[in-house]
Amino acid sequence: MKVLFVCAEVAPFSAVGGLAQVAYFLPKALKEAGVDIRVFTPKYGIISSNLLRVENVLEGLKVPTGEAQKIICNVKVLKSPKKEDPIIYFLENMEYYEQRANVYNYSDDHIRFGLLSRAALEFVRQGDFVPDIIHVNDWHTGYLPNYLQTDYKNDKKLQEIATVFSIHNLHQGVFDFDHASEMDYDDGKGPLASFFSERFLKQNSLKRGIIHAHLINTVSQTYSRELLTEEYAPRLYKLFRELRGKFYGVLNGLDYQNFDPKKDKIIKSNYSTNNLSSREENKVDLQKEFNLEVSQHTPLLAIVGRLDDQKGLDLVMETIEFILAECNVQLVVCGPADNKHRDFFSDLEKQHPGIVGTHLMFDATLPRKIFAGADIILMPSKYEPGGIVALEALRYGCVPIVRATGGLADSVVDYDPTLSTGTGFSFKNYSAMSFLATVIRALETYKNKPVWKKIIKRAMDQDFSWDKSAKKYIDLYRRSQLICIG
Ligand code: GLC
Repeated sequence: MKVLFVCAEVAPFSAVGGLAQVAYFLPKALKEAGVDIRVFTPKYGIISSNLLRVENVLEGLKVPTGEAQKIICNVKVLKSPKKEDPIIYFLENMEYYEQRANVYNYSDDHIRFGLLSRAALEFVRQGDFVPDIIHVNDWHTGYLPNYLQTDYKNDKKLQEIATVFSIHNLHQGVFDFDHASEMDYDDGKGPLASFFSERFLKQNSLKRGIIHAHLINTVSQTYSRELLTEEYAPRLYKLFRELRGKFYGVLNGLDYQNFDPKKDKIIKSNYSTNNLSSREENKVDLQKEFNLEVSQHTPLLAIVGRLDDQKGLDLVMETIEFILAECNVQLVVCGPADNKHRDFFSDLEKQHPGIVGTHLMFDATLPRKIFAGADIILMPSKYEPGGIVALEALRYGCVPIVRATGGLADSVVDYDPTLSTGTGFSFKNYSAMSFLATVIRALETYKNKPVWKKIIKRAMDQDFSWDKSAKKYIDLYRRSQLICIG
């Protein structure tokens, strides 16, 4: 089985969020399972040059734009990649990728990712790798199934390629589709306009990917059900309902080799469920790293990952002063933050020196030290398609407090004292009161050391490995082929 995996971000080259983790670890697991999978992604200017030793595979790839003018790109490949890694193709273009300092947030992102989508198809058309399946991800590459079904419909080489579209997020790109006037409504059907036209900006690639892909999935079972409701997908739930027959949920995974507290070189002290006391050294190390008072018995709470509204941080903002005043806890916060959250958490740190510590930007290693040293991770997300941070925390025995939504509902089991089951604490209602009550419930449980230890052990014993999810993707690939040949 041959697969081309097209994605706007890929770890470790252009890691913005969980999407990049998936784009590295899922293909790796699929390769291990015997799939000839190759990744196709832009060569952004920000990719560190020591990661990027590349050579040409296709020079002067001409990509049609819908007008007479074509965009000329090169396709490069990583020289001598690690044996276990899939081949990664980098799409090279000065104007749209190399000269930009960031991965996202440009007014012409629709052109930049329209280009990625169309270039991937041209690469297949003009090159020697003809996949059975093209797997695309999020709005950036939702254009691709659309092109395949319209502009490339009669192309002999591409005709039998099936497409799978994974939804990691309902973001829909540059244009504000949620508040569009009736005149700008896009029914999602028909051919895509020229890259440079106003109409192209207003063509909804997420919707078009959903309509045109042979099969769609999102990154947890629960989120796939939530997307059928008006609450979670106000403008798309009817479409999801209509296309239910080709819509699946596959929970994201974790690379258990790479994320392993027994072997992880980043953390101070390695540990397993048999020697949990070694975990305590990591707590001290973490407290020092964030300039917190060193104290073994103070519960250390943590927030890790993208810090924006999706993550339900308003619930934390409403309750944290009370928690700090009444509960004798410490807090560390780590991840790229939008302005609102950066201001809030840096003020909080100033007001509570030695008790609150922050690192409000992306960091490749700190999260692991946090998972290994903190007692509790807070994830009260408003919505959470997958939620890889929860899987990472479980693996390291950092007990999650989550809102039972999306992938969090599928990965964290609420602690039940009568049955002695559970790997964390969860609540359903999106309210500050429910969140606070759950934090207090967790902190009360924390006081009972033997019980807490058992929760940690159960958390660490879970198996959310990528190989499990990879098998499910192989199954989806097969189904998409059946749908494709009709
Ligand atoms: C997005 C989602 C997150 C998911 C990730 C990878 O970032 O918000 O829940 O885990 O994509 O699929």
